[in-house]
Amino acid sequence: MPVFRLLLTLVALSIIGYVQHVHAQSVLPMQNIYGRSASSLDGTWQYIVDPMETGLIKSKYRRDFPADDKAKLDEGVLIEYDWDTSPEIQVPGDWNSQIAGMEWYEGLVWYRKRFNYEITSERQFLYFEAVNYKAQVYLNGEKLGIHEGGFTPFQFEVTGKLKPTGNSLVLAVDNKRREDGIPAADFDWWNYGGITRSVWLVETESVFITDYHLALNPDGNHLEGYVTLDGSASEEEIMVQIPELGVKKKVYIGSSGTADFQVKTPKELERWFPDTPKRYTVTYTRGDDMIADRVGFKTASTQGYEILLNGEPQFLRGICIHEEAMGTPTRRLDWDMAERLLREAKEMNANFVRLAHYPHTEKMTRLADSLGLMVWTEIPVYWEDIDYQNPKTLALATRMIRSNYERDKNRASILLWSVANETPIHRDRMSFLKHLIKELKNQNEHLLVTAALKVSHEGGVKRIDDPLGAYLDVVSVNTYVGWYGTDYPDAIPDVAWESDFTKPLVFSEFGAGAVYGNRGDKMTRWTEDFQAYFIDQTMTMALDIPFLRGTMPWVLKDFRTPRRYHGQFQQYWNRKGLIDPQGNRKQAFVTLSNWYSCIQQQENINNE
Ligand code: GCU
Repeated sequence: MPVFRLLLTLVALSIIGYVQHVHAQSVLPMQNIYGRSASSLDGTWQYIVDPMETGLIKSKYRRDFPADDKAKLDEGVLIEYDWDTSPEIQVPGDWNSQIAGMEWYEGLVWYRKRFNYEITSERQFLYFEAVNYKAQVYLNGEKLGIHEGGFTPFQFEVTGKLKPTGNSLVLAVDNKRREDGIPAADFDWWNYGGITRSVWLVETESVFITDYHLALNPDGNHLEGYVTLDGSASEEEIMVQIPELGVKKKVYIGSSGTADFQVKTPKELERWFPDTPKRYTVTYTRGDDMIADRVGFKTASTQGYEILLNGEPQFLRGICIHEEAMGTPTRRLDWDMAERLLREAKEMNANFVRLAHYPHTEKMTRLADSLGLMVWTEIPVYWEDIDYQNPKTLALATRMIRSNYERDKNRASILLWSVANETPIHRDRMSFLKHLIKELKNQNEHLLVTAALKVSHEGGVKRIDDPLGAYLDVVSVNTYVGWYGTDYPDAIPDVAWESDFTKPLVFSEFGAGAVYGNRGDKMTRWTEDFQAYFIDQTMTMALDIPFLRGTMPWVLKDFRTPRRYHGQFQQYWNRKGLIDPQGNRKQAFVTLSNWYSCIQQQENINNE
C-alpha cells in the first residue's frame, strides 16, 4: 500500500476512534427503553426558529437560547427572546407537519422543555429515541453533547444536574442536509426535522443492567447471551429467567461489567415464525432491579439460494414501508399508527416488511415481533453522493449501524440487515461498505447482511455482478423495468436474470406510480390499472427466476418527497404506494395480495 494511502488510513482510523469516543455516551444507549422506570418528557415544548443560527454563533449578538434565563429580563438587559412566551410544538413530531410555513424548512430550530423533577433514584439519564438530523443538547444552560443521525437513539447521563423545579432542557435541532452526512444531500423522502420520536427521563440505581442479548445459537441447541452492567465495580449476580420455560440462570459479572452465558434450549421452546410469532417474557434481575423484555427465538441462515428461518426455506412476501403516517404526512408514528401500517402488510398476506431507508421507530420492530412480520432494517447509505472518501462520514455510518444493531438485536423479526441502497460501484464505496459489513459481523457473526445493488445489463439480460455481492449473505436488487425509461410492463417478463453469486436474490423494490381513483387501460401510466399490471408482470418475471426468494414492491403508501414534481400526478408525492395517503387501497394492493395468497397456498401444499 503506498505510503500516502497508509497515512490516510491511519488518519481515518484515528478519526473513527475519536468520533466513537466522543460520542461514546450516545453510541450505546441503554437497551429496551420501554421496559424501564422512566418518565416521559413528551408533550408540549416551546420552539424558536433560528434560520440565521444566531443561537450558535459566538458573537456579541449571540442569542443565549440555552440559558433560558428570565432573571436577566429583570435586570433590564435587552434579551430579544423569551422562552415562556415562545410558541408551542408537540414532541414527538416534526415541525414540517405542525407549524404553518415550516413544511419545507431546512435549518435550525431551538426546542425547550421546562420540567420539575423530584429526585428519587440514584442516577438519571436523558434518552432520545431519535432527533432528525443533528441535536445539540443543553440542560440548565450546560451543554451535554451533540448527536448526529436522525434515526437512532442516544442518551446523556444527567445525574447531579437536575433541580427539584424549573429544569430547562434545550435542544438545537438542525435538519440541514449535509454532503458528509448519512444520508447525504440527495434522497427521495421528506426531510422531516425535529424531535421526531419520544424523550425520556430514565431513573436507575447506581449499578444497573444497561444491556443484554439472548438468542438461539445457529444449531439451536443453546440460547446464548450476555448481560452488561453500568456502574459495577465488583462481583455481581444477575438472574436471567424465562418463567414460561422454567429457565433460571445465575450469571456472575466481574469487574469487566459484562458476562456471557448459555442455557440449553428447553425442549418445549417454540421458535418464532411469522405465522406463529411466539414470544417469551425474559427477565434480568439484579437485587430488586428487574428489567423484562418480550423476545422471540429464531435462527436465520442461508444455504445456496435458500433463505432459512429456523432451518425452513422462506419466500419473503414483502412490502416496503417509509416511516410516515397515513393521513397528515408526518414522521411521528404512535403505536396505533405504526400498527395500522403493519396491519396493511398482514392484510396483503405479507410475511415481510422492508423498513426503508433508515432505522424506523422501535415501535415498528417490536410490533413486527408481535404481529409476525420478518424485517429488513437499514441505515441510509443511499445513492451516489455519500462522501465515501470521508473518514468522518465512515465513522458516522459505523456508529449508526452499530446503534441500529444495538437497539434491535433482541428483535426476532429482524431477518436482514442492509448496509446500502443503490450505491455506485467504485473502490471507495467498496471499502466503505466492507467496513460496515465487518462492523455488523463483529457485532454478531450470524447476522444476514444484504444491500440493494445495481445490476449490469446487456442484450435483454440483467446480470447481478456487483463485487459487493461477494460480501453479502443475500443479494438484493431494485428493479423498475417497465416504469422508468421507455419500456412498458408488457416487456417485463421477457427480461432474463443471471447472477454471479450462488446466493438468494430478493427484489428489494419494484413499483409504478398511480393516482388513487385514476382508472383507465393498463397501458396508461399513472392509472391504477397500469400499476396493477406492472405488479402482475414483475411478479411473473420474479417467480421465473430460479434463485429469487423474495419480493417487496415499492411501496406500501404514497409518501411525501421534494423530488416528485409532476403537477397533475405527483404534487411532491411519490405515487408508487399500493395505498394512497389516506390509506385507500389501489388495484395493485389486491393484485399483490392475490399473488401472495397463491404463493402461501402453494407453500402449504408443498409442506403437506
Ligand atoms: C429508488 C429508491 C427509492 C425511490 C424509488 C423510486 O429505488 O431506492 O428510495 O423512492 O427508487 O424511484 O420511487
